[in-house]
Amino acid sequence: MSNGDSTLLLKPTLLVIGAIIGALVIALAANGLLAFLGGGGIGSAESGGGDITKLPGNWSGEKWYSEDLRDQGMRYKNETAGDEIQFVPKQMNNSTLPEDENRRELVKRGRELFANTSAEAPEHVGNDLSCANCHGGGDLPTVNGMVGQDIDLIPLVGTAAGYPEWTGRTERMRDMRQRIQGCFLRSMNAPNSTEGVPAYDSREIQAMESYLVWLNKGTPSGRVPYWRHIEKPEGKNETNVSKVNPVRGADLYLQNCASCHGADGQGTEGQYPPLWGPESYNDGAGMGRLYTSAGFIREAMPYGSAHTFTDWQDVQDVAGFVNAHKRPHLPRQPKDWKASGSPDEGIYYNRTQQRLGYDMNPMTKKLMLAGVPIGSESLNQSDIPNNVKRYDKPLRNESANGSWQTTWILPTGNATANMTANATNGSATSNASTTGTANTTTDGNASSNATAAIRDTMASAMNGDGAERESRGRVASETRRATAT
Ligand code: HEC
Ligand code: HEC
Repeated sequence: MSNGDSTLLLKPTLLVIGAIIGALVIALAANGLLAFLGGGGIGSAESGGGDITKLPGNWSGEKWYSEDLRDQGMRYKNETAGDEIQFVPKQMNNSTLPEDENRRELVKRGRELFANTSAEAPEHVGNDLSCANCHGGGDLPTVNGMVGQDIDLIPLVGTAAGYPEWTGRTERMRDMRQRIQGCFLRSMNAPNSTEGVPAYDSREIQAMESYLVWLNKGTPSGRVPYWRHIEKPEGKNETNVSKVNPVRGADLYLQNCASCHGADGQGTEGQYPPLWGPESYNDGAGMGRLYTSAGFIREAMPYGSAHTFTDWQDVQDVAGFVNAHKRPHLPRQPKDWKASGSPDEGIYYNRTQQRLGYDMNPMTKKLMLAGVPIGSESLNQSDIPNNVKRYDKPLRNESANGSWQTTWILPTGNATANMTANATNGSATSNASTTGTANTTTDGNASSNATAAIRDTMASAMNGDGAERESRGRVASETRRATAT
């Protein structure tokens, strides 16, 4: 199939032209800035040569750079950032580690936990992910402590300085440990939901906190490195949620992502992490938000050739496609953003869906209208309709057939009590053939009658081999180094 307007993201000629233009722009901007600063700018003070694009240089512990760097026209990770900005990962050795032996062991343990979370802390992880799958460093020499230091994958260098901080999602101050606990609950889909999260005082949490503090050494407190936080689409780059086109995204996915993450989005054992389904992040995770995942994809994917997505519309459409799919449900998710209201990009949130006039995740609705699978079946080019443009529109009021509940993958363990079905549409039918023994009614706030068995049943219904997948990806980062690079 061909939709006529698909963008070839990786066209080499475009890349070369883009790189040349980018270099010119940076050279001109640097010139202008230095002229403006009278030649005595931050960059020239440090390097003598006046080349601001070389900042922040290395991590000697004392050096820092102007916080205003970003405002002064320095783009956060653009196409040429990798060459222009020296982001030197810190080596883990006796000169960088704390002197005290116990503290040293804790930092090392933290690195291990980040790199191979599901293998190192299986009782706290309910999916096939590791922190390093999103925070990077998995294919760098992890024995030297590179995890969380990949400029392209949400690096965690310098982030500890920002805690404690306010979070709007749960409306409270949180410290670093609570932040890490939140990552287990959401990104790692902790088993039994909150019960599976490592305790505040546990060795795991202390180790990971120690690692982040180690990564932070040299960062002035309260300072925010320019690489902190994903750049999300804003202003003219932001596509209204109702106009994001996940059907076009399906086509882009097949061209740019499926080679690693699979046509079924389930990745490859030990090499590429799953993007949806029971082994992925849950519907309360940051990556489940449309603009957050669009920003991540733009900065980090395709793996190994990051920054090749030049078009914001493209990454939003792909993010819409990824987050149209079924994934595990976080029971407390409906309680997020209680006072402030869930943001538009929170497409898995019932309240967002209602506010935007939808009876389900708008991305899911469009895939269903187009006949594109929303579970973990393989996507074929022939599933994608020719008229992709049709899905640029909101299409709120058209009705789609079949089961649409995107958040029906229930947590592990005994979830009988407070599972609230994320259902608002009285007429939606529950899909008996794939939900196994789930007894889900869909009239309003129905509660589902769930047991531990259901998740497994669902996993095997979706993938055909639930049991075998148990160990998948546990050693993703380390194995990939051996097999893929
Ligand atoms: C060359 C292989 C490759 C391609 C192509 C690729 N990825 Fe990835 N992706 C990876 C790897 C490897 C990781 C994990 C990185 C790590 O562990 O360091 C990853 C991680 C991710 C993650 C975060 C972890 C997760 O499973 O949720 C997302 C989201 C993602 N990729 C989306 C995409 C999208 C969307 C595309 C297409 C635009 C894409 N990827 C293309 C290899 C690839
Ligand atoms: C599925 C992808 C994913 C996984 C897996 C993941 N994270 Fe994250 N993490 C994110 C995203 C997205 C953000 C938000 C980035 C931003 O603020 O722009 C984030 C932010 C963070 C932050 C805050 C950084 C800051 O600047 O304040 C910390 C700390 C963190 N994650 C730790 C972890 C830990 C620890 C784990 C493993 C237990 C983990 N993450 C697993 C996606 C992920």
